[in-house]
Amino acid sequence: MRDCIEKLPGAFFLSFPEKKDFLISEVAERFPHFGNPVFYGDLVYYPGAKASFASVPNAEVSTVGAKAAGVSCGCASSTICEGDVAADGEPVAVEVPYWCATAMLEPKKVEFASIGEAARLLKEIQRNWGSYQFTQFRRAALIQEKLPYINTKEKQFPFTIPSSPIGLYTLLDSNHMVFSEKTSSSLPAGLFRFVEDHVNPPSRAYLKIQEALVRFAEFFGRDGSGTESSAKIGGTADARAGVVAREAGGTADGCNSLAGRGTERADSVIPKEGERCFDAGACPGGWTWVLRKLGCNVLAVDRAPLADSLMNDPCVSFMTHDAFTLKPQDLGFFDWVFSDVICYPERLYDWVLMWLESGMCRNMICTIKMQGATDWSLVKKFADIPNSKVVHLCYNKHELTWLHSGVAK
Ligand SMILES: C[S@@+](CC[C@H](N)C(=O)[O-])C[C@H]1O[C@@H](n2cnc3c(N)ncnc32)[C@H](O)[C@@H]1O
Repeated sequence: MRDCIEKLPGAFFLSFPEKKDFLISEVAERFPHFGNPVFYGDLVYYPGAKASFASVPNAEVSTVGAKAAGVSCGCASSTICEGDVAADGEPVAVEVPYWCATAMLEPKKVEFASIGEAARLLKEIQRNWGSYQFTQFRRAALIQEKLPYINTKEKQFPFTIPSSPIGLYTLLDSNHMVFSEKTSSSLPAGLFRFVEDHVNPPSRAYLKIQEALVRFAEFFGRDGSGTESSAKIGGTADARAGVVAREAGGTADGCNSLAGRGTERADSVIPKEGERCFDAGACPGGWTWVLRKLGCNVLAVDRAPLADSLMNDPCVSFMTHDAFTLKPQDLGFFDWVFSDVICYPERLYDWVLMWLESGMCRNMICTIKMQGATDWSLVKKFADIPNSKVVHLCYNKHELTWLHSGVAK
């Protein structure tokens, strides 16, 4: 059966739900050399999606991809993922778009005669498999049943993203599938969902900061330098049919486990009790609400007030002001500076530089709101800031999130 495995060129990109058009236009603008795509539902195949490291001078290598290949890259970005070794021994990279939830970095196609044969093939290659299906849903579910069960419950914040690699497979028809044991995300199908609180948060934006903090812990865990991804997750829940979770060494209930093998708990990296946070563009208060739940003291700035419960909270100071005209030196040192302000990315970039140059903050998390055509050179400027990472979050809309880890006080 192994003899039937056909190695495919390029990479398959699974778009975030309802973001396929963004992914396609991003690839056309950033990676025109990928050529024309082939579509399998939300899975977009670019046979030309490979670039050598040499041709991409500022290439950054995915921790996930590099780990899977045994390469120690020491980089926090997943812009470029190690995926192959060329005939001459030079590594070949896959450039992964922001709107991609996970990528099949070493795609292969195989014919299988039965459900059992498909499951056995996957198991022989690797323990952990996420699934994305656009057809053959019943057959895929039966294959999945033959793989060890994984809890796919929604996650309670905070939780820790796994460091174990996870593959992805997709059925093309009843007897063929594409799969890759190497992917750009250690989340099943690159996604997860939180257990939601429909009563207490003042806005649904609280989900966005929760995810940003979980991702921050994934990228900058342990020493905050981004050199070690140090997180673990127990499973996932995904609205899309056929998306299933697998976990290396997972427990039967597996869900929301914070303790991992040699990993650091996410809740030791995210904001802690007593830390000082600046929440720019805070109204109605979803982000401040999360920070208060973590025990932080928050300076919230907006032109409009927060929800009453937060306005009456003695650990929340509120200022009616333009957040961008406040000077760091006048506000004092912050452990965390956040911005969810709706503004042009250029303005946000200048504001970010002002804070970094001031030395008055340690960590920053900002939403980059996409307005009209995306200025990819500006997005790159955010990504190029040392100890930074730009990501699209599951809970982002038409926006990216910039994460920056500074040195300890
Ligand atoms: C997307 S909302 C923020 C939602 C908030 N993060 C939450 O969790 O509820 C954007 C906010 O930015 C505020 N805003 C826009 N420009 C601003 C500025 N220059 N300074 C401060 N706030 C601003 C708006 O008033 C709006 O409340």
